[in-house]
Amino acid sequence: MSHPNADAPIIPEVHVPDNPVWPALGEAATKTLKTDIKKMLQEQNAVLVAHYYTDGEIQDLAEETGGCVADSLEMARFGTEHAAKTLVVAGVRFMGETSKILNNEKRVIMPDLAATCSLDEGCPKEMFSQFCDAHPEHTVVVYANTSAEVKARSDWVVTSGIALPIIKHLAEKGEKILWGPDKHLGRYVQRLTGAEMLFWPGSCVVHEEFRSVALERLRKLHPDAAILVHPESPEQVVDQADVVGSTTALIDAVKTMDHQEFIVATDAGIFNKMRQVAPDKVLLEAPTMGEGATCQSCARCPWMGMNSLQNLAEVLKNGSNEVEVSANLAAKARLPIQRMLDFAKTMRK
Ligand code: 13P
Ligand code: SF4
Repeated sequence: MSHPNADAPIIPEVHVPDNPVWPALGEAATKTLKTDIKKMLQEQNAVLVAHYYTDGEIQDLAEETGGCVADSLEMARFGTEHAAKTLVVAGVRFMGETSKILNNEKRVIMPDLAATCSLDEGCPKEMFSQFCDAHPEHTVVVYANTSAEVKARSDWVVTSGIALPIIKHLAEKGEKILWGPDKHLGRYVQRLTGAEMLFWPGSCVVHEEFRSVALERLRKLHPDAAILVHPESPEQVVDQADVVGSTTALIDAVKTMDHQEFIVATDAGIFNKMRQVAPDKVLLEAPTMGEGATCQSCARCPWMGMNSLQNLAEVLKNGSNEVEVSANLAAKARLPIQRMLDFAKTMRK
């Protein structure tokens, strides 16, 4: 295992909320709520952009109404290419902020502005800026799971779907990299690219809970299962993976691989789309804290859980929860995000 850089800052402890429990709605109430939301989306020239970790009803509604359910890279891109005047982002705050940064003229609203992310929370802008100032010879690459201010301090923004080719590209140019905030994703790309990197010591509280010993045990019980792991997971979990990748990459793996069984190490919200693309396959949750132990999130991001049909309808009704990013800050933060999107375009070609 690689060692953290000696001067890695001690980052603030992140308060992890309990997983929200939403009152069960029943079939008729759900149907009415969905009809109301569809009507309001249309009336307001709005489109719903959802992440794969949100509630399955929200994901399906996004697709049914011409919006999208996607990973964070595609969510960012979708908003820029859609003509709607309002983007309704169901996900966590950095996703809403990225949409606002890229579409400053559009209205961006979110079901709950308090839906944040442990990586974003664990990377305060002043501390991060000091770390960058102490290493001026490094190219600053930050994961999309950061605030607009941290993005504005960076040279490149990356998501899990594109981190590897971008770091490879920078390493080939001989650039030294200061990476933040997810140490696990950072180490994963360093190992594959050999890049010279310094790390911010942040992590995702959800993926951090996957346990390698318990995973080994589960693998023995299901020797024919393929192991799919999101790269925010700890190194010993990633080491056991058949596929390591973004949420989209993991969904594609379930669809395209011949295996009948999969053990999946990422937020359980992803099973909604996986079941749709491969209804006959067996999907197992990777173990979290081990038998008998408690876990904080149990593979359910508490911040993603703050999105529900109820508060989605509420924000459309009362027009609240608008994401604000000043034009000045957006202009600064847009450059490194646009660099990523342009890079992604050249890759697609
Ligand atoms: P993806 O970009 O792979 O969807 O990941 C976002 C995220 O927050 C994972 O925890
Ligand atoms: Fe952040 Fe982890 Fe939740 Fe993704 S799953 S939004 S990285 S806390």
